Amino acid sequence: MIKYIAPLLFLLMLPALGSARWIDDVAIIENPAVGAVGFGHYGHLEALGNNCVFCHNQVFNIDPVKNPPASMTDMEKGRSCGACHNGQKAFSVTENCSSCHPTADIDFSTDAGDALFSHALHTELYGCSDCHPDLFVPDRSQRKIRTMEQMADGLSCGACHDGDTAFSVEENCESCHDM
Ligand code: HEC
Ligand code: HEC
Ligand code: HEC
Ligand code: HEC
Ligand code: HEC
Ligand code: HEC
Repeated sequence: MIKYIAPLLFLLMLPALGSARWIDDVAIIENPAVGAVGFGHYGHLEALGNNCVFCHNQVFNIDPVKNPPASMTDMEKGRSCGACHNGQKAFSVTENCSSCHPTADIDFSTDAGDALFSHALHTELYGCSDCHPDLFVPDRSQRKIRTMEQMADGLSCGACHDGDTAFSVEENCESCHDM
């Protein structure tokens, strides 16, 4: 019991401190499927007032080890970020994926030179679920390496790059490969 009293007093004092700039801005949540997701404290404290108790420790324990990993489905049911990101208190977790998951370009290195995949370009045309998780598991450690032959049969990039939806993988090599 004793060991909880100090942190509890500490949390109760916080709203009175006026400024929270003494804590680190970004907390990183490591997720096995999508990697690191950054959470910005300062932006939230501005939006919510310097009110740590909105999140600590009901929604998130300040000790990361005590937060069980949440899936997006859990969040849709009100857990984790979904406690507020429900389309009412704040923008919903059912869309706006890239607000919380900034997507970097993916560099595939191949025998025919590097092939660069631009998330930015493709997410202007498609939602995340058009590609994840059926076409591509969003996790490098589970990457399935595909050949051009498999792509010509409709897997990976070839699901769209078939000469119909988008330019074909059976030609245009240099549109994708840095040869
Ligand atoms: C909108 C929700 C929210 C509010 C408000 C909030 N936090 Fe956090 N805090 C988080 C999240 C999310 C994490 C990361 C939890 C994890 O790693 O599982 C975190 C982590 C932390 C950590 C652990 C350090 C780290 O980098 O992992 C500390 C310390 C902390 N918060 C302090 C505070 C204090 C002090 C306040 C008030 C001034 C505050 N937080 C307000 C959501 C919030
Ligand atoms: C206690 C309520 C609450 C919780 C919990 C919460 N947020 Fe927010 N969040 C807000 C509010 C309010 C805003 C500002 C209004 C808006 O943008 O809709 C916001 C804005 C944001 C923004 C855009 C502005 C910025 O700071 O960059 C991001 C990104 C974001 N939240 C991510 C997260 C993530 C990731 C989590 C979970 C780890 C989370 N939030 C948990 C309330 C919350
Ligand atoms: C408010 C911020 C926020 C938004 C918006 C958001 N996510 Fe997430 N997402 C997270 C956080 C934080 C985690 C990691 C949670 C954890 O590990 O506890 C996560 C985890 C995931 C995961 C791994 C867990 C799982 O559900 O399989 C996937 C996949 C994912 N997000 C995809 C998406 C997609 C697709 C969208 C848009 C429909 C989206 N996210 C919108 C914050 C967000
Ligand atoms: C047109 C298809 C496509 C769309 C749309 C798409 N992605 Fe991806 N994504 C990919 C490909 C391809 C990879 C790399 C897969 C691999 O490594 O096997 C990837 C990888 C990822 C990864 C893992 C990153 C890494 O460094 O390994 C994350 C996280 C991710 N995507 C999130 C998203 C989110 C969030 C959205 C929506 C905003 C989205 N993606 C939309 C194709 C797409
Ligand atoms: C869900 C469908 C879809 C998937 C999957 C997809 N693309 Fe695309 N891609 C498109 C569409 C649509 C365009 C734009 C139309 C066009 O250029 O024919 C495009 C355009 C491109 C472009 C042209 C960019 C420019 O500068 O104009 C490149 C390069 C590209 N894709 C690479 C890839 C790679 C590499 C993969 C696999 C890792 C991939 N795409 C997977 C639909 C997709
Ligand atoms: C839509 C983009 C795209 C086009 C067009 C494309 N490739 Fe690829 N290619 C890729 C990607 C991405 C990979 C890596 C796939 C992986 O690792 O899962 C790859 C892998 C390869 C590989 C290694 C795998 C294998 O099949 O041996 C070779 C060689 C290759 N491409 C040659 C070519 C040639 C030759 C062309 C033109 C006839 C071509 N590619 C057209 C995106 C493309």
